[in-house]
Formats: sequence, C-alpha cells, structure tokens
Amino acid sequence: MSHHDKPLTLLGDLTPADFLANYWQQKPLLIRGAIPDFVSPIDPDELAGLACEPGVEARLVEENGPDGPWQVSHGPFDDATFERLSEGHWSLLVQAVDHYVPSIAALMDEFDFLPRWRLDNIMVSYAPPGGSVGPHIDQYDVFLLQASGHRRWQLGGKQPDNAPIIQGIDLRILQSFEIEADSDWTLTPGDMLYLPPGWAHHGVSQTDDCMTISVGFRAPSADEAITSYADYVGEQMSDSQRYSDAGMAPAEEVGELDDAAVERMRQFILSTLDNPEQVAQWFGRVMTQPKYIDQVVPLEEPMSEADLVAQLQDGEPLFHMPGSRFAWRSDASGTTLFVDGDGHSCSETLAKRLADPTPMYEEVLEIDGAKALITQLINSGSLGFMGEGDDEE
Ligand code: SIN
Ligand code: CO
Repeated sequence: MSHHDKPLTLLGDLTPADFLANYWQQKPLLIRGAIPDFVSPIDPDELAGLACEPGVEARLVEENGPDGPWQVSHGPFDDATFERLSEGHWSLLVQAVDHYVPSIAALMDEFDFLPRWRLDNIMVSYAPPGGSVGPHIDQYDVFLLQASGHRRWQLGGKQPDNAPIIQGIDLRILQSFEIEADSDWTLTPGDMLYLPPGWAHHGVSQTDDCMTISVGFRAPSADEAITSYADYVGEQMSDSQRYSDAGMAPAEEVGELDDAAVERMRQFILSTLDNPEQVAQWFGRVMTQPKYIDQVVPLEEPMSEADLVAQLQDGEPLFHMPGSRFAWRSDASGTTLFVDGDGHSCSETLAKRLADPTPMYEEVLEIDGAKALITQLINSGSLGFMGEGDDEE
C-alpha cells in the first residue's frame, strides 16, 4: 500500500488515486476546508512590495482602466500606482511567489501526489471588493486556494478551443460567460477549487483582504514540444543523415512530388524522431527548465569540494535554490539527474537524494559521487546553503 492510498483533507477526503482518476484534467472539484485553519503566509502589503521589485513578474488588471476595459499593465509598480487604484475594480497578480517567499514554496509539499516537475509556479493575487480578472480560461491545471478574505467563484464549463475571447488584451477573457448549474460558491480561507485546463471561471473578491493562491502546473503545448524536441534531436544528428531515395522508380512527370517521395520523407522524419531514449533525455531537460532562466545564477567565486565538505561538516543545511527544478530517471542506459534544463549521469541513489527537496546534511557525502556533483550544482546556482540571510524579507 502506497502512502497515496490514504484520503487527504486537502482533496476533500478523496485519496490521491481517486482524485487523479476522476478529477485531474477532467473536471473541477470544490474542497471546503482543504487546509483547515489556514492563515495566509503573505499579506497584501508584502504582495504589493514584491510587485514593486524589478525582476518580479507582476500584472495589474483593471476592469475599467484609464485606457479601456480589462486593461493589463506589467510591473514593477510603484506607490503612485497603488494610490491611483485605491477605488475601483482591479486585481494584482504576482507570479512565482514561491521563488521569493519560502512559506509559499512550502505549500508545494501538499501536492506531493503529483510529480514535482509538473508544478510550474505559485501565483498570488490580491483584489479589493468587486475586483476580478474577468471571466476567462487558462490552459493549465490550477488549484485556487483562498488565502484570506472571500472570493465568489462561478464556473462556466469546459470551453471549446475556439471560444470567442475579447481581442486585443493579453488575458483570455471570454466574450460570453454562462454560469453552469451548481457552480457558484464563495470561498473562505483554506477552501480550495481545482480547475482543469480550458474551464471557464470567474472569481470576484467580496472583501477588502481577498487573496488567492494559484498553484499552477506546466504542460508543454504541441507546438512547444515539437519545436523544442526537434531542436534537441536535431543537434545530435549528423549532416549525412538526409532524405534518401535509393532504388526509386524513374520519374513519370518531372514536376510531380509523388506519393512514394512523400512517404519516404514521412518515414525519415518519424524514424529520426521516434527514439524513446532521446525523448526521455529531452523531456527531463524541458520539464526542469527554470521559469526564469536568469534566476539560476552561477556563483561568482566557485566553491571547491573541500569547501563543500567543510560547510556540511559545520552542520549547514544544503537546499534546492528557489526556482531550481529537479527530476530524475533510470532506464537501461543508466540514471540521469535533470537539473534546471541539464542532464547529469550519476547513481540512482544520488539522483533520488538530490531531486528530493528536503534539506541535505553531511550524510549526503556518503553517497558515491556526491561531492563532485553537488559542488558542480552549487557552482551553477541550482543548490545552495543560503547562508547570508534567507531570501524572505
Ligand atoms: C485570481 O487569483 O484573481 C485569478 C486566478 C485565476 O483565475 O486563475
Ligand atoms: Co484563471
């Protein structure tokens, strides 16, 4: 029996297996009291502060902005912005708050029935009463956890790919929104709403401290997957691997692109792309690509293996750096640890330990190959001791 066979309060007493079989990617689920006695790890002022920092992805959505309805502006913002806004219907959305606030990042542990590499980032929003981002659809699975205040959510059902959206604004706001039966709820702190991709939803703040935490997931689109995979395998092909037509029949018409030629090309493409090992190597790399590449910063002064040993022996815990992503995989050709878009071969024991987000201590050095790989990952900015002052402000 796996530890995922137990009912979870987080999932309204469903087991993770039930939730995944019946709701995940299929239909919404409202969970009252998903996190009992939940207290928001962040308050509106801290969120506004983050939205004023350069490098933080923040958006402001105004239902009736100075330049028109559903106006979106991008941060960093300043005090003047928030003063101008005090009246009216607006929402502040800050992306990847898990990268900056460790207590928000810690929420990811609640979702450990899903692979960590599937998680993308945690967004936090604030809206005064009446504020919303409009009825819209997202392309990603999301858990909407009410952090403080009250938000009324209404759902409009699964939308077709071509549902009319309001043009010219950078949100997918629907032109028409019809509330489905039994899909109108007011969420209080600790309540959570799961939504699969493509489901119309509209959440309006009811109180002046309405904050919502969106745990969002990552799924490459067909376009992204094919372009990026083709790039990856392409780099490993030799120039002599080419379209070939040995043994072909004489041309009947010099201008014709005949079926046999098309079929040869189709086979050529499929046989070069269909390589399970390459797919695995590419997949691990894309799913661990950081959301913001410039957040993984190599150390200016690289550390030596001896420095590493000394710090661990001092009892300092070693962490995944905020925004760093890890995954591992074993197959017939060995084990790969994927970190921030790169692959490293190592033992399975080491890969599993390094991909585990809990802090590491001196014992980790007992694993074969640990010293060299950990040193390399500290120097590349993926692991760190976070010695000089924690990131939390
Ligand atoms: C919000 O928090 O205001 C919107 C979140 C969402 O609809 O995805
Ligand atoms: Co949404």
